[in-house]
Amino acid sequence: MSSSDQASTLRKIVNQNMNDSALRVLAVSSGKGGVGKTNVVANLSYALSKRGKRVLVVDADLGLNNIDILLGLTPKYHIGHVLSGEKSVEEIIVKGPADISLLPAGDGLQELTQLESEKKVFLMDELDRVSRKYDFLIFDTGAGISANVTYFCSAAHEIILIATTEPTSLTDVYALIKVLYLKHAQKHFRMIINSVDSEREAHGVFRNLSAVTDKFLRNISVEYLGYILSDPNVAKAVRQQKAVLELYPYSKVSQCINALSDKIMREKRLESGEGDQPFFWRSAFQIQ
Ligand SMILES: Nc1ncnc2c1ncn2[C@@H]1O[C@H](COP(=O)(O)OP(=O)(O)OP(=O)(O)O)[C@@H](O)[C@H]1O
Ligand SMILES: [Mg+2]
Repeated sequence: MSSSDQASTLRKIVNQNMNDSALRVLAVSSGKGGVGKTNVVANLSYALSKRGKRVLVVDADLGLNNIDILLGLTPKYHIGHVLSGEKSVEEIIVKGPADISLLPAGDGLQELTQLESEKKVFLMDELDRVSRKYDFLIFDTGAGISANVTYFCSAAHEIILIATTEPTSLTDVYALIKVLYLKHAQKHFRMIINSVDSEREAHGVFRNLSAVTDKFLRNISVEYLGYILSDPNVAKAVRQQKAVLELYPYSKVSQCINALSDKIMREKRLESGEGDQPFFWRSAFQIQ
């Protein structure tokens, strides 16, 4: 089976299993590093939590500026401890501001694809059991086109990509879209343009990207989700290891994040059904 066939089979099974579940799985990624993914994930999660949604953030980034540091959390355990039988999934989850839950996965996630199947089934069933308690599962996937990034983007229901006004962030996000489409059969992408001076500037950046995707990748849809203004309060909040929404709830960046979370909440991914349970993890990891 080609990798594109595999990806579409994966998606089909994930969708079948998830069809009647309320859980929404979002992967936040970018082509270029340092464009604000982790800040977006942390603050979007904060905003969604404040709106009464149960959010589980999965740190799937192997980089340095991890979400736990950003939120001043110090997880003691990770997925490895679940695999060794020392801890349950609930015991490794740490609670953040506004009651966000964080699943510290880090390096552990990369190993999951290589686990022997008995262990994998056990872990996935555990993760599914816990995920059922949440409305949103949000992956901070790291930057670039590594297998780790593309894997989670392919398995998630919704891919949110971040770019800035920097030309390299646009070329890199285009490269990521291209890989996700050509190798992983992904066709729907939503963009957040971060660190702009105005909404107009964000529209300009988005237009530049669409001009290229419309011309060279005709079968895909790239939607504009929204923009986030550049704001020195972000750096201040990072230094204090707190969500900017918590420290500066009325700042311009917080207003943008609130608008984004309202928009995300307005969209219902799927009609919810009765009784069906989500099996995101099991579906995502069992077929390669
Ligand atoms: N809207 C914004 N206004 C001002 N500064 C911002 C904004 N968004 C992000 N930043 C700054 O950009 C830097 C990188 O942010 P962040 O760590 O969230 O990026 P990232 O995409 O997760 O990076 P990496 O690829 O390394 O994981 C941070 O220091 C943050 O302060
Ligand atoms: Mg990051």
